[in-house]
Amino acid sequence: SVVNSNPVPEKNIIHRKLNSYVGFANLPQQWQRKSIKKGFNLNLMVVGESGLGKSTLVSTLFNMPMYGPKEKKDPGAEVPKTVNVKTVSAEIDEGGVRLRLTVIDTPGFGDFVNNSDSWKPIVEDIDRRFDAYLEDENKVHRSMSNDNRIHACIYFIQPTGHSLKPLDILVMKKLHQKVNLVPVIAKSDTMTEEEIITFKHRILEDIKHQEIEIFEPPRYENDDEETLVENAEIMASVPFAIVGSTQLVATPDGRSVRGRSYPWGVIEVDNEEHCDFVKLRQLIIRNHLEELRERTANVLYENYRTDKLTSLGIQQDSSVFREVNPSQKQEEERKYHEARLAKMEADMKNVFQQKVAEKEQKLKKSEGELFARHKEMKDNLEKQRAELEKKKSRLEQTRAVGEEKKSRNKFGLGGRN
Ligand code: GTP
Repeated sequence: SVVNSNPVPEKNIIHRKLNSYVGFANLPQQWQRKSIKKGFNLNLMVVGESGLGKSTLVSTLFNMPMYGPKEKKDPGAEVPKTVNVKTVSAEIDEGGVRLRLTVIDTPGFGDFVNNSDSWKPIVEDIDRRFDAYLEDENKVHRSMSNDNRIHACIYFIQPTGHSLKPLDILVMKKLHQKVNLVPVIAKSDTMTEEEIITFKHRILEDIKHQEIEIFEPPRYENDDEETLVENAEIMASVPFAIVGSTQLVATPDGRSVRGRSYPWGVIEVDNEEHCDFVKLRQLIIRNHLEELRERTANVLYENYRTDKLTSLGIQQDSSVFREVNPSQKQEEERKYHEARLAKMEADMKNVFQQKVAEKEQKLKKSEGELFARHKEMKDNLEKQRAELEKKKSRLEQTRAVGEEKKSRNKFGLGGRN
């Protein structure tokens, strides 16, 4: 056997200073440039009863009118029977950075006499987006540029001052494992500071008691003190008491600010002493947009994906393995397609069987109807025959009487007349 006279030396990591500039220090900038060129996208869902200020808040967050003037409701128009899901997109640019913003609104939520099914169209929309992504992921020529998954969901709580309503609890529980939930107290300018503090406290108690998960910025090992403090402050404001307004108003000291003007003073949207709007914007846009997207992809979507594939009968491996082992991934894709085909076939079979059963039922029904009609006709005929029979015997009787009379007259046996 060949003996290697020059064995590979043990792998030692030697720290050296570079003699001159090589250039990989540029990698972060390259990455940054690429991201900036590609642009960012954020799909933001807003859920809450009509009139709680959802459209106003979105326009306030992005500092632009996201919606046209409100359509006047036609009083004669038919009232929709269920919650709708409406999408508006906008491409915004700030200092050369592009953000493609899509807002998913849920008009009709909470407007019905019975709202217990209000969550269904919302959850269906979220699932449909996950499904589309999964479908894309399993395509040979994938176009993963379309990420339509919901990255954050702002849930608007009515400023009642009591606690969460049963509908809020129901809906939040349906949503919390599918989206990053961000609860806010709507129109908080309608409450006093003390009322807000107690209200927040009650809401947090409910959220904890109901084990509802709300979005929290993740902790990283290398987080500096400043980041830690900032994140803690953001979380201390949850549920964010917000005020929305795109109107500029004049303050008593002569500034022009976004806010709401009252006889007793001005509430400033961008003033942290007045409301939690700034904290909400920090969470969703300034500090944690990327983390909202990451949690959507790595936790919420992964969970959905695993559940979905398990329901199709496919065993899952960890997502890490999925990324690094292409043959494993191919095998998984093949299984996914097979499972989908099998499911489609089973579904078709089901539909077919259902159709056959329906047809049989229909035939049976019409057979029964025919039989009943036949019987009815027969009975009718029978009745008619009986009547005719009666008539006939009556006629025969009168005829017999007539005959008798006649023969009596003939032989002069008749009466006096
Ligand atoms: P729908 O489209 O019907 O679902 O309503 P919405 O939730 O989008 O509410 P919208 O933003 O249209 O606001 C409804 C009304 O509330 C408008 O008259 C707003 O000016 C007002 N409004 C919005 N935000 C606030 C707020 O923070 N405080 C107060 N006091 N009023 C607000």
